[in-house]
Order: sequence, then C-alpha cells, then structure tokens
Amino acid sequence: MKALVCSVCGYVHLQDVAPEKCPICGAPSTAFNLKENALKTKEDVVTIGESEKKHLPSITIDTKNCCGPQACQEIRAKIGEITHPMTPEHSILKIVFYADKNFIGYTSLTPSLNPISVLCVTNLENKKISVVAHCNIHGSWISEI
Ligand SMILES: [Fe+2]
Repeated sequence: MKALVCSVCGYVHLQDVAPEKCPICGAPSTAFNLKENALKTKEDVVTIGESEKKHLPSITIDTKNCCGPQACQEIRAKIGEITHPMTPEHSILKIVFYADKNFIGYTSLTPSLNPISVLCVTNLENKKISVVAHCNIHGSWISEI
C-alpha cells in the first residue's frame, strides 16, 4: 500500500496530503515522501503465514467507564496474533493509532516491553480505527477495524 512516509522517523501518514509537521518527530511537510509499499496489509498476502501473524496488529475496542462521567473506548492493539519477538536485534519500535485516518496517538517501545499498546478515548463514535506496527526489520504493517 502506497503512503506518505516521514523520512526522519518513519511515521506513515494515511492521508493524501502531507501534514504541516510530523506528529511524532515534528519534521516539516517537506520531509514526507510518497513511498510504494509503505504499508503491508492483510490483503497483500493471499495466505496468512507466520510472518503476517507476527506483524499484523490485532485491534480490540471495549467500552469502559474509566475516564470520568462519559463512557470511553479502550483501543487495544497487540502485535500480532502470534506475539512478535522483542529483542534488541528484532522488535516492534512503534505502534501508531489513527481514527478516520487522522493520527491520534502512538507508543514508542523498547525490547523490554511487550508489543502491546492501549489508548483510551472518548467521542470515538463510529470512526474507523487503524493501527500501524513498525518492525525494525520487516517494515510497517496496518490493520483496521
Ligand atoms: Fe519483525
């Protein structure tokens, strides 16, 4: 899947026009380049193999009441169905969240952590949630819910 990628930090932008600045590293819009195969998706593979199972984010959304009077939604992303390794040589570096293709947050991981991230949001309504997992060796993988 083709997408705009920040040449400084590797953040993948899901919209057609580059942002004013990268939401992760602050690089200007000129740092974004359109990259073929920027993202790997479930549709890119005919048969889901071991590799895809380790990289495609598994997303769950649960309604909670942990953020005050208003109900909130907990978005949980685990990488992946078979848990991705987390070693200094091979690990998930970042998990990035989007609502209707707009960046909403991210987690930066070190190999001492499990490849899981949770965001709690209000006003999610019926927005489409996308999650991108960045592997230091196997590139960026997207799932949507
Ligand atoms: Fe990997």
